[in-house]
Amino acid sequence: MYVLGIGRTQFGVLDNSLLGLASEAILKSLKDCKLTINDIDAIYIGNFLGGILQNQLHLNSAVASFFPNTHIPIIRIETACASGGVAFHQACLALSRYNRILVLGVEKMTGYDGVLTSKAIASAGDVELDQSQGLGFPSSYALIARKYMSESGATIDDLSKISFKAHHNANKNELAHFFNKEVSYQKIKESATVSSPLRLFDCSPISDGAAAVVISRERYSERDIEIIASSLKTDSISLVQRKNITSFTAAKLAAEEAYSMAKITPDQVDIAEVHDCFTISEMIAMEDLGFCKTGESKEWIRNGKTELEGSLPINTGGGLKANGHPIGATGVSQICEIVTQLRGEAGNRQVKNVKIGLTHNIGGVGGTAVIHILKNNNN
Ligand code: COA
Repeated sequence: MYVLGIGRTQFGVLDNSLLGLASEAILKSLKDCKLTINDIDAIYIGNFLGGILQNQLHLNSAVASFFPNTHIPIIRIETACASGGVAFHQACLALSRYNRILVLGVEKMTGYDGVLTSKAIASAGDVELDQSQGLGFPSSYALIARKYMSESGATIDDLSKISFKAHHNANKNELAHFFNKEVSYQKIKESATVSSPLRLFDCSPISDGAAAVVISRERYSERDIEIIASSLKTDSISLVQRKNITSFTAAKLAAEEAYSMAKITPDQVDIAEVHDCFTISEMIAMEDLGFCKTGESKEWIRNGKTELEGSLPINTGGGLKANGHPIGATGVSQICEIVTQLRGEAGNRQVKNVKIGLTHNIGGVGGTAVIHILKNNNN
């Protein structure tokens, strides 16, 4: 299985509509691999909030309207913040039937009352156990951060370092939500508390955006990047149903399966895009993915190992924190970033000598985990 083409829109607070974003990303991904819609056998779409915020369900048919008389199968997938990654996973499985598939991730989140948007996002939590108690995403991850910090000795300064790195990388990514935003440690430290200990700069923003990729059974050109593993696992929806909240079992299991499929060990991964919806999630991801041992991610952050020049750069495009988090688009945009790096087309954020890249996309507070491993066969 190979990624042939990639394309994404700007992420941020945009005027574009849900469908406008979708069509822009689709056309860019087709152009990137010099194909047309007539070369595509099916489309898989990741989208979370279209029903709640835009009152636009039946998204498969809405996208079919872009291509009259095509009539190809189109399917929408919703798994909260993992919608894009799971759409990609489903498309990989469907390559047993279709030769070329376009995967689209799209979300329109801005332009609505903030309370409505937060309530819509909170629908990824259990309606009785979480939502009725006012437990949304920032407060759930704040609980995780408190527990993790007390167990591991990680500090608020470690979280600040993750945020600083994300903004540093996003300033090298002109499509990022926070491209061209100067962010200092002081700004991060002085930012308002959202849910203690998490501050504004520990949170991913509310973003609009879309990303698309074309995948195929066959390899056509040297720019094509191989998909060597695709793994999806789930867990209970609420933190109160879990024994351990400082590690996501679904992510650990998906990682184990993905490494086994790819026949590699974690130390062979050269770059990773991980689901840093809050800075604390990046620390947990590093441990769940086996990059370091439990409680050790703080040492990696302090030693700069995950920076662009480090031994395992993480979130080279700015991550969810600063590239942005248009929820349904995120998992697909992670694939776009890894493909860009593996092709050697990442410009001033290019990491040297990259052969293997991993994406880690989480739905809810660890209820869904989907992991992909990609490889450049040219070097
Ligand atoms: N990081 C840094 N700056 C941010 C930001 C973030 N996450 N979110 C907003 N800002 C900035 C805006 O750019 C704006 O700056 P400006 O005044 O210079 O233009 C300012 O903060 C106010 O923006 P606003 O949109 O009014 O922020 P808000 O207070 O309504 O929302 C959060 C801030 C953190 C509550 C919101 O971004 C949020 O809910 N994030 C989490 C989203 C989430 O849960 N996603 C799913 C996770 S899996």
